[in-house]
Amino acid sequence: MKQSNRATVLASRPRGIPVPGNFAVVDRPLVQPSPGQVLIQNLFISLDAGFRHWMDEGSSDHILPEMPIGEPVMGLTLGRVVASQHPGFAEGDLLMARLAWEEYSLTDATDFFVKVPDQYDCPLSYHMGILGDTGMSAYFGMTDIAKPRPGDTVLVSAAGGAVGSIAGQVAKIAGARTVGIVSGAAKCQQIIEQFGYDAAIDRTGDVARQLAQTCPDGVNVYFDNVSGPLLEQVLNNIAVGARIVLCGAVATYSATELLPGPSNLFNLVTNQARMEGFMTHLQHDRYPEARSQLLAWVADGRLRNMEYLLDGIENVGLAFCHLFEGRNLGKTVVRLAG
Ligand SMILES: NC(=O)c1ccc[n+]([C@@H]2O[C@H](COP(=O)([O-])OP(=O)(O)OC[C@H]3O[C@@H](n4cnc5c(N)ncnc54)[C@H](OP(=O)(O)O)[C@@H]3O)[C@@H](O)[C@H]2O)c1
Repeated sequence: MKQSNRATVLASRPRGIPVPGNFAVVDRPLVQPSPGQVLIQNLFISLDAGFRHWMDEGSSDHILPEMPIGEPVMGLTLGRVVASQHPGFAEGDLLMARLAWEEYSLTDATDFFVKVPDQYDCPLSYHMGILGDTGMSAYFGMTDIAKPRPGDTVLVSAAGGAVGSIAGQVAKIAGARTVGIVSGAAKCQQIIEQFGYDAAIDRTGDVARQLAQTCPDGVNVYFDNVSGPLLEQVLNNIAVGARIVLCGAVATYSATELLPGPSNLFNLVTNQARMEGFMTHLQHDRYPEARSQLLAWVADGRLRNMEYLLDGIENVGLAFCHLFEGRNLGKTVVRLAG
């Protein structure tokens, strides 16, 4: 029987963009469940830029508490129950949960726990990405809010990432022309080749010039994963009736002070446009519908699912840092076992 449990702890609070030195791997004793508890072996860890927020001091809010120094970093995991004294869970159950970056988690399962349905014939890691919160965000944000139509130009930021790569393809399937924003010329080429974007914008270059070139008739839909200065630049290029989907704000998660908001919101008025945010996990009852549709598109070859996969608990902190360097193409996930 295994005695130790390796975990990645928050060694220090990131100042700005996280670096690998903010994280450390520690060995802790593996504790067996008491009545009411369940022991889960984590098979995959999902890396999500949004969790950067709770690494800051004083970041507790109505969603999650601030992460303590020296404790395993909070995250989303996919794991299997290996021992249970909890009436709701049996050995062998596969669970998606908000747990921590550790090989095993001992928990009373009161927080965010979802049994993973076994009807899907796909790799288990898909439940962290295309069938998990990021795939669902792409699907709900695009189909409920953006509602792309043939003839629309749909612009997506973080277009090669977990949400963006799926969002762009969902818009393409709806008949729209798609333009993705990523960092670097090589990644621009990759998202055109891998995810079928019609054009790409390098956010490290002259964005205003590239926006004018790639979206000459204006942006009908902006699927915004990053916020910050890019949002302001896009608002200068929206078409009449534009829909701006506020999915996330990667550009602000590591900010050391409050960033100024867009100075040009009046463009929404003159273009009769609207901006709308959403929280995916609150729509859990609709996940089956979205999963079936996304998997059907994967099966018929219209949707490509990609993963940026690293192995081992020692690489979890590194994989998280890679999100902020834009190294990933597709969903970033670390495999611990399985
Ligand atoms: N609303 C919801 O319920 C919900 C649910 C899940 C996720 N989200 C949000 O969706 C967004 C995307 O998440 P994801 O998991 O799919 O991440 P991701 O796109 O896989 O990775 C983050 C990407 O952001 C880009 N990036 C990093 N720093 C940036 C900066 N300063 N400015 C602009 N772009 C930057 C990088 O791509 P490039 O360097 O190539 O640009 C990087 O690859 C996040 O904001 C996340 O919080 C929202």
